[in-house]
Amino acid sequence: MNNTFIYACAGMKTDYTPVWIMRQAGRYLPEYRKIRAKVDFLTLCKTPELAAEVTVQPVDILGVDAAILFSDILIPIEKMGLKLKFYEKKGPKFSNPVRTQKDADRLKIINPDEDVPYVLETIRILCRGLKVPLIGFSGAPFTAATYMIEGGSSKNFLETKRIIYNDPQLYQSLMEKIAETTIAYLSAQIKAGAQAVQLFDSWAGALSPSDYETAAFPYAKKVIEALKPLSVPIIYFVNDCAGILSIASEAGADVMGVDWRIDMSEAVIKTHRHTIQGNLDPCVLFSTKGHIKETALEILKKAKAARAHIFNLGHGILPETPPENVKTLVEIVHEASAI
Ligand code: CP3
Repeated sequence: MNNTFIYACAGMKTDYTPVWIMRQAGRYLPEYRKIRAKVDFLTLCKTPELAAEVTVQPVDILGVDAAILFSDILIPIEKMGLKLKFYEKKGPKFSNPVRTQKDADRLKIINPDEDVPYVLETIRILCRGLKVPLIGFSGAPFTAATYMIEGGSSKNFLETKRIIYNDPQLYQSLMEKIAETTIAYLSAQIKAGAQAVQLFDSWAGALSPSDYETAAFPYAKKVIEALKPLSVPIIYFVNDCAGILSIASEAGADVMGVDWRIDMSEAVIKTHRHTIQGNLDPCVLFSTKGHIKETALEILKKAKAARAHIFNLGHGILPETPPENVKTLVEIVHEASAI
């Protein structure tokens, strides 16, 4: 087992900087598209043999130091009681979003063994053969709430903020249920064999720092604190984190994942007790090999001031990315960081 990633999570010195890529299993890989051509996305997530197969693809093809479970942050939300559909161009849609107290009261806290057995089975299959650690994941409560309230992806998160400002009681009761579901879901993933977990707070950066502190941070912290006794590294990825990173770093995670809009040196200062993960702009993978190398080296250099560094993109890889450039990036990180 290549444990470089786990050591870096714990802040230990490693022979080289481990690297994995957010959304590393996906449409930019022809090998993924081949399997995806036969089944729709949700079926792929819910068929353990296929989900395990696409999880392993980037490990074999790119040589990354960790695998991330193939699933989606919306899978446990569906089981709380929302009707989920994925549309080819428009993305995910919930046809019965949460807008009233009644809507929230109808939601249940999931029982992972009964509600998402396929996720746990995928993890068990993967743990039998993987040569790198497996990362389990979930949406952070605020990011999950945006999908549940908006009914899909959003630009301004207006309905979510409307509830935060105008119906704090509804917001709190919804967030408590999401946090409990997230704790149950991630605990089950860890019990099934996930060796680390990542909370994706993809939309936390849409909040002002003070709204983040009251409406998102306490629930992320609650999840992280509940998982601590299970003794696996916890990564908290906060997208668009520049204005809220100092607060987010107090949530108790072992690793802070950061996007590319913040300079790595500044991110390290704001997260000094943590391992840092990030933060290449996914669009740099559309440039030349020379530019990819130059940018990666700069990040590696700045991240040396952190207790440890896990190289990653600053957000998910884009579907149009040339796979050979991703492979080049992984090689560059491994070679340049080797001691
Ligand atoms: O390789 C991996 O990282 C594991 C798989 C993974 C997926 N989604 C698969 C996926 C992970 C970790 C996610 C997380 C996820 N899902 C997030 C948080 C990360 C982020 O990017 O901010 C969010 C916000 C979602 C919700 C989601 N899923 C949206 C908005 C969409 C549609 C947009 C899109 O990219 O198509 C998805 C679909 C999705 N999730 C795909 C994949 C591979 C594409 C589906 C397909 O194959 O057609």
